[in-house]
Amino acid sequence: MGILSQLAIIHLLLWAAMVVCQHEDYDFGDEYDEEPDHEHPYYFNFHPSTQHEVPHFPIPAQCARECFCPPTFPLSMYCDHRKLTTIPNIPIHIQQLYLQNNDIEAVLAGPFTNATILREINLSYNKIKFHMIDHGVFAKLSNLVQLHLQHNELEEFPFPLPRSLERLLLGFNKISRISRHALEGLPNITMLDLCNNFLDDSALKGKQFSILKNLMQINLCNNRLQTMPPDLPPSLMYLSLENNSISYIPENYFSRLPKIIALRMSHNNLQNIPHNAFNLPNLLELNLGHNKLKQVFYIPRSLQHLYIEDNDIEIINVTLMCPSIDPMNTNQLTYVRVDQNKLTAPISTYAFFCFPHIRTIYYGEQNGNVNKSTQLRTPVFRRFLTPEEYDETEDDHETSDHETEEDHETEDNYFHANFQ
Ligand SMILES: *[C@@H]1O[C@H](CO)[C@@H](O)[C@H](O)[C@H]1NC(C)=O
Ligand SMILES: *[C@@H]1O[C@H](CO)[C@@H](O)[C@H](O)[C@H]1NC(C)=O
Ligand SMILES: *[C@@H]1O[C@H](CO)[C@@H](O)[C@H](O)[C@H]1NC(C)=O
Ligand SMILES: *[C@@H]1O[C@H](CO)[C@@H](O)[C@H](O)[C@H]1NC(C)=O
Ligand SMILES: *[C@@H]1O[C@H](CO)[C@@H](O)[C@H](O)[C@H]1NC(C)=O
Ligand SMILES: *[C@@H]1O[C@H](CO)[C@@H](O)[C@H](O)[C@H]1NC(C)=O
Repeated sequence: MGILSQLAIIHLLLWAAMVVCQHEDYDFGDEYDEEPDHEHPYYFNFHPSTQHEVPHFPIPAQCARECFCPPTFPLSMYCDHRKLTTIPNIPIHIQQLYLQNNDIEAVLAGPFTNATILREINLSYNKIKFHMIDHGVFAKLSNLVQLHLQHNELEEFPFPLPRSLERLLLGFNKISRISRHALEGLPNITMLDLCNNFLDDSALKGKQFSILKNLMQINLCNNRLQTMPPDLPPSLMYLSLENNSISYIPENYFSRLPKIIALRMSHNNLQNIPHNAFNLPNLLELNLGHNKLKQVFYIPRSLQHLYIEDNDIEIINVTLMCPSIDPMNTNQLTYVRVDQNKLTAPISTYAFFCFPHIRTIYYGEQNGNVNKSTQLRTPVFRRFLTPEEYDETEDDHETSDHETEEDHETEDNYFHANFQ
């Protein structure tokens, strides 16, 4: 029994490690610094997944004159940070090619003539323009899995690309156009980063993202979108839309995206959200900070972290967030950030019944015409309950299903003692 369960745990760890590796990407910055418990592996963390394979056979020591091929990683060629203006000839055995931080403007077919087993190319931090890429130069690389083109001068989504491609990083370019056929023939792509470009609604209109059948993550942060991106594939798990100008979420928008695990939409213009918009059975992280929300919304049971700071919320109506309580299937919320809203009163303690796993409510400073005497003395509520206290609150809740708001008020004192 012991061995079986240990095997199960190891299996789980391996699987988790794989998941983390597949979802490397980029860290979304300082915004989460105040978040105290970052132990969960499902964030968009950056974990470069490059695996250098040391072959078991001797390799002819062939390397471009301008570059370095370490004896310990003979399948990798390092040509980064060298002020190169052209791509050197790539020897036949190279799998990983590092060309980042150069002055390369063009991607010509010549140097790639022999590079048939290339799996990964890092061309980030160069000066590549779309029309300076030889047509089909990437598409020929039938083993290419990762292509890094962030921090270049691309005005258009590069295409055609090889069918083998799994990760495509295009952040920090000037992309404002996506050709109608650009998304075709990418059955294996799992991760697409388009943050920090010039994409607006018209650029995405009519583009069939849904043909990317294995897409798990799409990053569209820091663009110019005013509406939600259309036609995303049902495989999607991570959606990043921070810092656009999106003002609404259509009714049932997420019903086609049941696998969403993390949704980031901070720094948009959201005002009203359909009450049931986030009825997503796998959602763990929801970030709607820095919008114009006036009202809270339904919180799915799976959700663990909720960020709604810097909005226009005056009252957190817990009944809206949690219309019913199912003791057999409790809400998983552990962390809520509500600072910089227009709250005038503490959050109803009913929240702690609806969300029994809450550890922290970050209340912080509130904006607006607030009478200083109503500012709370402690900006952070933390739950430190003993198991007995926990049971007690559970019992309390069962006998108080029909409490009035007033009842909640009187309970505040009891809870304040526990949630300093
Ligand atoms: C490709 O390989 C052939 C044979 O080794 C060599 O003569 C040629 O220069 C190579 N071309 C490039 C672009 O590396
Ligand atoms: C590619 O280059 C960028 C810029 O130096 C670097 O941050 C990144 O880690 C590199 N990625 C890989 C997979 O080599
Ligand atoms: C897509 O991925 C699958 C599974 O890893 C692999 O068997 C297949 O060869 C890939 N397709 C292409 C075109 O590389
Ligand atoms: C939002 O994006 C704009 C460019 O589109 C950028 O200038 C600004 O710094 C970004 N703001 C945040 C909070 O990331
Ligand atoms: C909270 O929402 C519920 C359900 O819509 C409503 O019946 C109740 O009046 C609201 N409470 C407050 C204080 O707004
Ligand atoms: C703040 O609230 C206190 C007590 O409710 C009241 O006496 C005072 O006049 C209020 N001050 C302002 C500026 O509204």
